[in-house]
Amino acid sequence: MINKEKELPVLKIGKHQPKYPIVQGGMGVMISGPNLAGAVAAEGGIGTLASVGLGVLTEGYNSRNFAERNSMMLKKYIKQAKDLAKGGVVAVNCMCALCDYESLVVSSCEAGADIIVSGAGLPLKLPELTESFSDVALVPIVSSVKAANIIINRWKKHYDRYPDGIVVETPNTAGGHLGARDIEQVSNPELALKVVVPALFEYLKEKELDIPIIAAGGIWDSNDISEAFSMGARGVQLGTRFAATVEGDSSDRYKQAYIDAKEEDVVLIDSPCGLPGRAINSPMVKRFLAGIQERTPCKTPCLTHCLCRTKHETFCIADALVNAYKGDWENGLFFCGSNVSKVTSIMKVKDLMHELLEGFKMPDFIPTSTC
Ligand SMILES: Cc1cc2nc3c(=O)[nH]c(=O)nc-3n(C[C@H](O)[C@H](O)[C@H](O)COP(=O)(O)O)c2cc1C
Repeated sequence: MINKEKELPVLKIGKHQPKYPIVQGGMGVMISGPNLAGAVAAEGGIGTLASVGLGVLTEGYNSRNFAERNSMMLKKYIKQAKDLAKGGVVAVNCMCALCDYESLVVSSCEAGADIIVSGAGLPLKLPELTESFSDVALVPIVSSVKAANIIINRWKKHYDRYPDGIVVETPNTAGGHLGARDIEQVSNPELALKVVVPALFEYLKEKELDIPIIAAGGIWDSNDISEAFSMGARGVQLGTRFAATVEGDSSDRYKQAYIDAKEEDVVLIDSPCGLPGRAINSPMVKRFLAGIQERTPCKTPCLTHCLCRTKHETFCIADALVNAYKGDWENGLFFCGSNVSKVTSIMKVKDLMHELLEGFKMPDFIPTSTC
């Protein structure tokens, strides 16, 4: 039964306002492609395309053409997502740790992205890269107030601008690469949403900055969403639940891995880029954790810092993520959030959105489209 008591906050990010304050987080490689991002945007949330490594799936991709191919595919997918979005808000996730980060940011703007969401490092130069595109909103991802403070001060000092929103993603529960120094720091309770979101809220209030906070990591249902709003967030970002949708761009085998995963199958690993990551304990991960070195040669310099490329250690993350996307259980790295074991079926985005919004008073309004 829907009780119509809880108000939904209005999430306005720069010039863009989705109908609902629900963001589908960017998930690479190609876990959140144009289908998923477009579907979420069309249903009134913010759909986020992951920009990482999109050219890998093209014929003849190599170390000379990788940036050009990535950019070409990104532009194509942004157009597809926007066509599906029916005027809804489409964001692009660009990771600072990528060699072609700058090219991906500029390509996203040129192709009409509404918002750039940027983490896996501090996006200190993002305003400079996007200065010719004033309609594009900029949203850094952080895991602490300290990181938000550095970005805010730097952007104000060098570019006289503030972030249009800030995603607080907690390493305690989120999927993919995590904003923590090492595996030990991943479970630091000081990095929990219930600590960092209220602290950032207070920090912004003190500075008299009206920047919406979007809480991410471990959010499963409308109770979690309500809790995030009560802590001061004006939006929530979910990854795992959206990956396991009909519209999710990965293979059915990928989605089946989510359905099959039990709580004890979720592990932390050190990724070749030096950040910890959360993933399902697939055969490839088991081999890695047992110290067995994969023999795949590095094909493209995708990460600025990569232990596979420079020291021939760990594994090729591009290969491992693409293998997962394609559904190669033996050789894939299946990133996931800590609540993946709760996934029991593959839902349609429309039904998932409906479930997430249960108990909230629906906004009277407003077009789903970009303002
Ligand atoms: C499969 C997968 C891939 C991800 N890839 C990225 C990525 O490319 N860039 C990024 O900033 N975050 C990435 N994330 C994090 C999500 O965008 C999101 O913030 C996070 O998963 C939220 O936690 P939840 O999965 O518990 O909902 C990924 C998460 C998952 C599950």
